[in-house]
Amino acid sequence: MVGVSRILVIGGTGMMGQHLVNASLAAGHPTAVLIRPAATEDAAAGDPGRTKLLEAFKARGAKIVYGDMNDHESLVAACKQVDVVISAVGHHGPDLEGGQLKIVAAIKEAGNIKRFVPSEYGCDVDQVEREAVMEPARSILQAKVRVRQAVRAAGIPHTFICSYWAHGFVLPRLGNPEVDGPPDTTATIFGDEKTQVIFVHEDDMSMLVMKAVEDPRTLNKILYVRPPANKCSFSDLVGVWEDKTGKRLDKYHMPQEELVKRIQESPFPLNFQLAMVHATMAARVCDQTMDASAGVEATQLYPDVNFATVHDYLDGLINI
Ligand SMILES: NC(=O)c1ccc[n+]([C@@H]2O[C@H](COP(=O)([O-])OP(=O)(O)OC[C@H]3O[C@@H](n4cnc5c(N)ncnc54)[C@H](OP(=O)(O)O)[C@@H]3O)[C@@H](O)[C@H]2O)c1
Repeated sequence: MVGVSRILVIGGTGMMGQHLVNASLAAGHPTAVLIRPAATEDAAAGDPGRTKLLEAFKARGAKIVYGDMNDHESLVAACKQVDVVISAVGHHGPDLEGGQLKIVAAIKEAGNIKRFVPSEYGCDVDQVEREAVMEPARSILQAKVRVRQAVRAAGIPHTFICSYWAHGFVLPRLGNPEVDGPPDTTATIFGDEKTQVIFVHEDDMSMLVMKAVEDPRTLNKILYVRPPANKCSFSDLVGVWEDKTGKRLDKYHMPQEELVKRIQESPFPLNFQLAMVHATMAARVCDQTMDASAGVEATQLYPDVNFATVHDYLDGLINI
């Protein structure tokens, strides 16, 4: 049963955060969104998209709370108004760790938070074989590990979310972070058919977060989101796209050495995105076995959820 915890989303204007705010509102939670005052002024000045987003949040009943991850007092004050804190802050170098550790410190001081969901929404960072992961992904995943450690050490009730590759991030470009849309003539393919990838829609991930924060079974656990129907290789993705469009593509299977070179030569955040593609193959981050003492599987906890499939998403792209 969905409860009525008051929820604060930090990072609610971001790519993942928007879905979390929408899911919180849709589930009927009193929802607050922490917004940086500077960002709001910028938005008013020159980012109509963000202004529209904030207006849409407000129109649906969200409360805008002004604050900053780097301003301890504002964070503590915001935490004291709610029961649950969900972070969806991004990572620009060391910011993710520094910022999230500040959120941990504020939650600890506030003392009233019954569930914290830190910004993760990827693989199980505790299980990643770090040596197989290239920079800057290695440092960013390691930062997420340290945030987990800090949350546990502070005794903060929490749930860590592993939802692997986000549909909206990866499917529109058929798995290739170097392009903005699906290929016209040549598809670049990473890895072979044996490299299975898990794709989860942001809306499904967010809806599950709302279930999880009210669910004692996910308390102090990792929630693994691994719908079996959404497991396929990057190569399968291209095949599905070809079948749907009825158009055959040339295939370029990028050799591992070339991927490594591109990671080394690309700017941030492209180097991070490519390094995560590399980690998917080299560290098999989507093939982790679940540690039953540390985590629970969403498809078992919530068997009634109909997950959006890769097919659904690709159909939507064709119909745009
Ligand atoms: N699995 C996947 O495929 C996938 C894909 C993407 C992301 N992710 C994960 O999802 C998480 C969120 O990433 P994202 O790409 O959605 O992030 P993003 O789009 O960069 O958004 C970051 C958010 O953090 C806010 N923020 C930044 N600095 C702040 C500060 N000092 N105080 C308060 N808020 C601040 C930003 O607010 P402003 O509006 O003020 O800038 C924005 O709302 C990360 O953990 C990332 O690794 C996973």
